[in-house]
Amino acid sequence: MSYRILVQPSGHRFDIESCETVLEAGLRAGLNLPFGCGNGSCGECRARLLRGEIEQVRNADFHFSPIERQQGMFLMCANRAKSDLLIEAREVSEAEEIPRQRVAAKVHKLERLQDDVLILHVRMPRAQPFRFLAGQSVTLRFDRGQTLTLPIASCPCNGLDLSFHIRRRPGREFFFDDLKKGHKVNVEGPKGDFVLREDNGCARLFIAWEEGFAPIQSLIEHVIAEGNEEPLCLYWLSAIPQGHYLSNYCRSWRDAFDEFHYESVDLEPLGKENWRQVIERIIRERPRLDCMDLYITAPAPEADWTRAAFLDAGVDAERFSMFAPEST
Ligand code: FES
Repeated sequence: MSYRILVQPSGHRFDIESCETVLEAGLRAGLNLPFGCGNGSCGECRARLLRGEIEQVRNADFHFSPIERQQGMFLMCANRAKSDLLIEAREVSEAEEIPRQRVAAKVHKLERLQDDVLILHVRMPRAQPFRFLAGQSVTLRFDRGQTLTLPIASCPCNGLDLSFHIRRRPGREFFFDDLKKGHKVNVEGPKGDFVLREDNGCARLFIAWEEGFAPIQSLIEHVIAEGNEEPLCLYWLSAIPQGHYLSNYCRSWRDAFDEFHYESVDLEPLGKENWRQVIERIIRERPRLDCMDLYITAPAPEADWTRAAFLDAGVDAERFSMFAPEST
């Protein structure tokens, strides 16, 4: 049995299964609902029931006053739906609204995509999903002293399983040769403001530079989870052999969605164009840049030039976001 929940004031809607809490279903649907403990203690996930019937499914230490209860206040992490619901709930859209967290987690899986690239999957404790916005980064501290700051590649709609892209380079041998499933890792963060702007009905243009694809993947997965239907356009640029290590995944997006453009671009010396030539081509190919939201991961030396090129082409500075990956 599933029900439909309408959230005010955002107007977002999502479906909830009878076995899920309101919080679990909302996060799965890509909403940035506020939460803290996930177990009924902190009160962060409080919302107001305006219409419909709910059922408490877990004991909660957090208590509402009699007046708050009368007003329909409830904890989203401790209640499930017994009918369609209309609720009033805050949604987080600014990076500053996400509290800094430090969670003791474990390596869940190491997916070796090719000799020099792996996907690291980290699992949070069941009661401690990690809060972040798509596009943000964290610092990973392993029990043998290794530390790495990386963008999260997965969608915030699943705060229990985070994924990261790691390319082999000097000093990173541990991750390819010694790291195993079950290793302990502290996850600290999140940080960074390379995050989605409110959906304003604009098409979105994403440009990824090599493993700077990781935060772009998180952004796109979140847009898809939210069910937005605006056109999406992704260019993935790389000057490394086999640099587009998840190209099949990108093609599956293109096949699944009508308005999804995907192009992988080999830069010189593998291809014929350099970074600037490709950016100039994109500007020519996308004439309605003035009504697009842009999200770009760029090599650090090209960041200023790239920003200036897009602003000269009519892009609104408010709609332009850039992240220079540490790897560049
Ligand atoms: S998340 Fe803490 S009470 Fe719901």
